[in-house]
Amino acid sequence: MTGPAGPPARFEEERSAEIVAASFARTADPRLREVLTALVGHLHAFVKDVGLTPEEWARGIRFLTETGQTCDDTRQEFILLSDVLGVSMLVDALAHPAGDGVTESTVEGPFHLVASPAREPGDSIVEAGDGEPCLVTGRVLDTAGVPVAGAAVDVWQADADGFYDVQRPGEVPRDNLRGVFPTDAEGRFRFRTIVPRWYPIPDDGPVGRLLAATGRHPNRPAHLHVEVTGPGIRTLTTHVFVSDSPYLDSDAVFGVRARLVRDFVRVDDPARAAEAGLPSPFRWLDFPVTVRRT
Ligand code: BEZ
Ligand code: FE
Repeated sequence: MTGPAGPPARFEEERSAEIVAASFARTADPRLREVLTALVGHLHAFVKDVGLTPEEWARGIRFLTETGQTCDDTRQEFILLSDVLGVSMLVDALAHPAGDGVTESTVEGPFHLVASPAREPGDSIVEAGDGEPCLVTGRVLDTAGVPVAGAAVDVWQADADGFYDVQRPGEVPRDNLRGVFPTDAEGRFRFRTIVPRWYPIPDDGPVGRLLAATGRHPNRPAHLHVEVTGPGIRTLTTHVFVSDSPYLDSDAVFGVRARLVRDFVRVDDPARAAEAGLPSPFRWLDFPVTVRRT
């Protein structure tokens, strides 16, 4: 059978959402039916609330069309739209509830599109470019405080000018400022890098125009991306934010959570610098991570 179940739908403005929802009566997947019914309910309520005009509707359709046309293999403008509307963070927060001391998660972002190279404990991830030298140490524990050995800690970050390697093809090696580090028997990891800089999200498309039209800047505060995976643990995708960065209170994608803002401490001690394999002074981030066992 084709067409909606029940008597033919005649449109009535007052019952518009209900009439459309009835057309989903034969949806085989109950979850799909639930999501579509709620979506139509909210959409119709929105149109009525703001009294959407045909011109505004057409403008909205043009905006969404351009958002789709801006997508390609490396650019996902729809995800960016979801990011600047706070939807990505909300979906992520619902999927990864806080509690039991678990490290909070944040969005992955579009710059994890190349696999980070495997590196040895203590290695530097800097293959090109200058910046403030930085030592990162940390420990992966489960919610009972038991070390997670053999986990993979994948890190990626922007450089001192606010660019990822993939934004500078031909200028810097593809693996610049990326690496996967194993945790040892005590759950510890350690590497050398530079302090990342804040940067603007891609703002030369429809999402950038939306930000400009609403008086918003496109910047994200300085951060290091961290993804922890391993057998028997739930994958954690998060960031560490640099506590003296601008834009911590106005991240364009709403990714900042209070407990992820950390001091990158200035260490002016030649002996500790020599031990870390860095010049003095250097900055030091210690980032303990708590994950859930599956
Ligand atoms: C990022 O942190 O890499 C990012 C996240 C969301 C949108 C753009 C960039
Ligand atoms: Fe980022």
